[in-house]
Amino acid sequence: MSTSAVATTPEQALSHVRQTQLLIGGEFRDAAGGKTFDTINPATEETIASVAYAQQEDVDAAVKAARRALERGDWAKMDARDRGACLYRLADLLEKHIDELAALETLDNGKPIGESRNVDLPLVIDVFRYYAGWADKIEGDTVPIRGNFFTYIRREPVGVCGQIIPWNFPLLMLSWKWGPALAAGCTSVLKPAEQTPLTALRVGELALEAGFPPGVTNVLPGYGDTGEHIVKHPDVDKVAFTGEYKTAQQIMSDAAPTLKRLTFELGGKSPNIIFADADLDAATQGAFIGLYLNQGQVCCAGSRLLVEDSIHDEFVDRLTQMSENRKVGDPFSEETEQGPQVDQQQFDKIMRYIEAGKTEGAQCLTGGGRDGNRGYFIRPTVFTNVRDDMSIARDEIFGPVMNIMRFKDFDEVIQRGNDTFYGLAAGVWTRDLSKAHRTAHALRAGTVWVNCYDKFDAAAPFGGHKMSGQGRELGQLALESYTEPKTVTINLDG
Ligand code: NAI
Ligand code: MG
Repeated sequence: MSTSAVATTPEQALSHVRQTQLLIGGEFRDAAGGKTFDTINPATEETIASVAYAQQEDVDAAVKAARRALERGDWAKMDARDRGACLYRLADLLEKHIDELAALETLDNGKPIGESRNVDLPLVIDVFRYYAGWADKIEGDTVPIRGNFFTYIRREPVGVCGQIIPWNFPLLMLSWKWGPALAAGCTSVLKPAEQTPLTALRVGELALEAGFPPGVTNVLPGYGDTGEHIVKHPDVDKVAFTGEYKTAQQIMSDAAPTLKRLTFELGGKSPNIIFADADLDAATQGAFIGLYLNQGQVCCAGSRLLVEDSIHDEFVDRLTQMSENRKVGDPFSEETEQGPQVDQQQFDKIMRYIEAGKTEGAQCLTGGGRDGNRGYFIRPTVFTNVRDDMSIARDEIFGPVMNIMRFKDFDEVIQRGNDTFYGLAAGVWTRDLSKAHRTAHALRAGTVWVNCYDKFDAAAPFGGHKMSGQGRELGQLALESYTEPKTVTINLDG
């Protein structure tokens, strides 16, 4: 995928705001009672647009449209290979509109335009192409049972999927949800996050252009209550959620009466372990990006940096220097490396953790405060002398706050690495092959990166152990959670 310079201004991005209504059954319409909410530009704190706010009635209408599309009409009858063709066409349309979508993503979320254009969008397009290829390859088994019977297993679409996504990677999270669901033949009622509804609405429009029949891809912006209506709806078969573990606990309890299928991708406090024999340049870079990528708003951020004693001080010096040099500012500038946090709430949460770190006795070497006086910008912040029991070492901060901790030996670092109720990801940096494998096997995490970090691929399953979630996204494994097996047994004597 080629990268390119993008000459975009916030004004140009604003001109790309086309859809602000709900997408239900192939049509854009206002919410019941005309209810709306404002979406804010986090770099300026100004309102971008007023967006339709889906109510119970709207959720009912979207679920009905999704059910109808699932069971009757073009989607239900469509050959699997043609479903794949719809996904390929959507990928092509996203590529055609890549600059526009990148600008819209940056406007709504605040992430630097270079990242939206050259990291997020290419990954999104790749996810759709990957799942396009799967659509006609979801096969079932035949099973040898006793007697003169023929038994086979069909993998049918799980049904109407409620898909609730967060604001940190709005388009990427949409692709992780729609890719496998649509390849498997499901229909979707997707709720983008209240902070970032704009790109999902635009992709909803492009999905219609790509040939997905009405009702297959519904988009309902709204807050948590909209999500709650989706979760509680008796005609939704499965809920896929990405966000905070506390929200997942609420969803699990709200879904209990209807026993929905659930998959969760939640947060983490991922250890990134640097052994003394690592390639220090690569490890420093990996530790840096592994924490600061996307303003630190990454579920798998390497937010517990564990560095072996003998290289600890040099590592701290390097990372402090790099953090001081990181360019924070206007997300529409090509030079910017770090934009604003997504909203006031996240900004306040991060600032509370920075204060807690200082109060609890960690040493703040750089950053530790706001950047500028407009927008939700925070200086890249480095803490050392962090103890494992401090809140900055235990809780997910979801911001540009790096905690560097020292370790002495292998057993100690494994024990401390696993001393968290999360288990999403981990990083290991060493030139010793057997140590790399031993560490990867000993850590309780859904993904372990060795001598790399944040290496995502549409084909590589991603998800969490423990409180970081259940089920897997991406890869072939994600398809399993979007299909329901059906065992068919035929009496051959009959
Ligand atoms: P959240 O979990 O509240 O929001 C995520 C999505 O869930 C949004 O679309 C939201 O509207 C929806 N939602 C909220 N309450 C719901 C409910 N009761 N039923 C159904 N849907 C509901 O996360 P929030 O408040 O935006 O962020 C809080 C913290 O969560 C962050 O500081 C971060 O630590 C973590 N987080 C983790 C993410 C990840 O990628 N794993 C993504 C976003 C947040
Ligand atoms: Mg919340």
